Amino acid sequence: MIHDQFKAQLTIDQIDKGAIAAQAPSNIALVKYWGKYGQQLPKNTSISFTLSNCKTTTTLEFERKNSPGFDFEVYLDEQREIAFEPKIEAFFERILPYCPYLEEYSFKINTHNSFPHSSGIASSASGMSALATCLVQLEQKISTIDLTPEDAIQKASFLSRLGSGSACRSLEGPIVVWGEHDAVNESSNLFGTLLRKDIHPIFKDYCDTILLVDKGQKQVSSTVGHGLMHGHPFAQVRFDQANENIGKILKVLSEGDQAKFIEIVESEALSLHAMMMTSLPYFILFKPNTLKIIETIWHYRKDTGIPVCFTLDAGANVHVLYASSDAEAVQNFISKELSQYCQNRQFIHDKAGMGASLI
Ligand code: DP6
Repeated sequence: MIHDQFKAQLTIDQIDKGAIAAQAPSNIALVKYWGKYGQQLPKNTSISFTLSNCKTTTTLEFERKNSPGFDFEVYLDEQREIAFEPKIEAFFERILPYCPYLEEYSFKINTHNSFPHSSGIASSASGMSALATCLVQLEQKISTIDLTPEDAIQKASFLSRLGSGSACRSLEGPIVVWGEHDAVNESSNLFGTLLRKDIHPIFKDYCDTILLVDKGQKQVSSTVGHGLMHGHPFAQVRFDQANENIGKILKVLSEGDQAKFIEIVESEALSLHAMMMTSLPYFILFKPNTLKIIETIWHYRKDTGIPVCFTLDAGANVHVLYASSDAEAVQNFISKELSQYCQNRQFIHDKAGMGASLI
């Protein structure tokens, strides 16, 4: 199904060549997206903190051409990355109905990730949202319609969703919802929506330290994992649980209730991995050190009363979440007690941020 409101309207005289640069961060889901249908539509609503430090910077060089079809090359840190190109090709194919100019230019896509390559941190959310931000900017230059800043963000979110679902939550911040939900005005399955309701100050700059437990390639990709939710015996219960958790977490985020926040966020992380463990074929993405970290966090929380918790993505790395007012104590704890469980003792301090921007 084509959504006409996102189709570009182009002028006859187009720009011959140029370059656009943008940066976009990764995000960490509090209520997880796991299961999709149709063209990258979520089976349940999800909500995330947009991050700040873990980001992708992309420069899109474009030059007008006369030959048919796509013509692009992808570079990571100045080196050609042929391995990324099939994913970009699939992305271009999906968004072509909305961005017909993709066939009129040849592109050089240069990307740089702020986080180490092969850190196990997925670059698809930051990468797709940075590229989508560049494309929407290109479209602004060659389009007859002036998009408002809000519409430009919404289109970038819509396009990045077609590249990687969770990417649509990286355009704005600090908290974004994706998927229709009664409790969030203007929420949509098509793009992320900035949470505009009251957010308690404690959650506006919440910290996330990413512990790099396993930097290797995941043995099951997110896309395959989402697919295994089709026919999964617990799928419907899981989707209902997530939608209920959205209602609960919205209250928690406005009231600043960290105890309830911890309960929802940790339960969501474990439910996500429980879905993986009960898929057919079943799989386990966390590692022994993931569990050691979880236990150590639980002991620390019990002993100190400091409200710190964990969440997990589709991988073995652990995100440690805590208020900025507790940053000193928690970061000390991370260095002293948790870093031993990380590969090469590596971790990255990050916090909630504001989303993508042009450079
Ligand atoms: C576990 O967005 O990476 O991180 O849409 O297939 O690209 P695709 O999947 P992706 O899935 C992310 C899943 C998750 C949870 C989340 O971010 O909500």
